[in-house]
Amino acid sequence: MSASATRAVGVDIGGTGIKGAVVDLSTGELLTDRIKVATPHGAEPEDVLDAVKVVLDRLEVTDAGDVPLGVAFPAIVKNGRTLSAANVADTWIDFEAESFFEKGLGRQIHFANDADVAGVAELRYGAARDQDGLVILTTLGTGIGSAMIYNGVLIPNSELGHVHRAKHGKDAEAWAAYSAMERDELDWPEWAERLQWYYSHIEFLFSPDLFVVGGGVSKHADKFLPLLDLKTPIVPAVHRNNAGIIGAAALALAGERPGVLDETTEDLAGTTAH
Ligand code: BGC
Repeated sequence: MSASATRAVGVDIGGTGIKGAVVDLSTGELLTDRIKVATPHGAEPEDVLDAVKVVLDRLEVTDAGDVPLGVAFPAIVKNGRTLSAANVADTWIDFEAESFFEKGLGRQIHFANDADVAGVAELRYGAARDQDGLVILTTLGTGIGSAMIYNGVLIPNSELGHVHRAKHGKDAEAWAAYSAMERDELDWPEWAERLQWYYSHIEFLFSPDLFVVGGGVSKHADKFLPLLDLKTPIVPAVHRNNAGIIGAAALALAGERPGVLDETTEDLAGTTAH
C-alpha cells in the first residue's frame, strides 16, 4: 500500500446493496462512478465476498497494489470480528470477518461498522465538521445504523437502531427504518410520526447537539425532516448515501500515514486494528 496514497477504495456492504467507489481522501469526493450490486439473498459470507469482488472488478481495482481498501459492514465490528447480524446471515455472528475478506480478496483491508464510517465521513467532509459536543448520525435504510461522535471522537458500535419500543416487542429499526416505511406502505407524514417517536426517544436519552441523517432516503430529506419537532437540529448527511463509501475509504488509509490523519480516523482505526 502506497504511503503517499491520496485515494482509496471504499466498499459499503448494506442489507440491500453493496456499493463502492474510489475516493479522493483530501476532499472526500468520489473519483469514479458509484458501483452498486444487490446484496445476495441470505447474505452468506461466501456470496457477499463474491459480490464485493464484482464491485472491485467493475471499479478496476482488483490489484492489491492499486489503492488501499476499506470495507464497511452492517453489524457490530470489534477487532475485525462481526458480533451481530440484523439484516445478514447469522453466520456473521462471532465471525472473523476482516480476515475472511483479506484471505478472499488477497489483500489487506480495514474493516468497520457501516454507520460508524458514515459518521467519520460526515465528520471529516460533511455535516458534522467543526461540530462540538455530541453528534448522532443515523442511517435510515434496511436497518437503522448509528454513529456517536463526541467532540470529534467516535464512540464505535453504538447500535441505536436496536433500542426497544416498550410494550411492542420489536426494536426501533423494525418500526421506523426506511424498510418499514416501504413494508407498511406509509406515506411521508405517516413515516414521520414513527421517526418523531424515534428521534424524540434518542434525544431524551442522549441530549445530542446535532442529528445527521444518512442512508438512501436522505436524498428526500425535505419530505420528512421538516415534519419532525425536536429540540436538536437535524440535518441530512452532506454525502447522503455515499457517506458509507467515503468513510470506508477514509478508514482504509488510517494507520498508514500516522500524523497526517486527524485523531478521529486514527481512533476508529484503533478499534479495528489487526
Ligand atoms: C445493524 C447495524 C448497522 C445498521 C445499518 C443494523 O441492523 O445492527 O450494525 O449499522 O443496521 O446498516
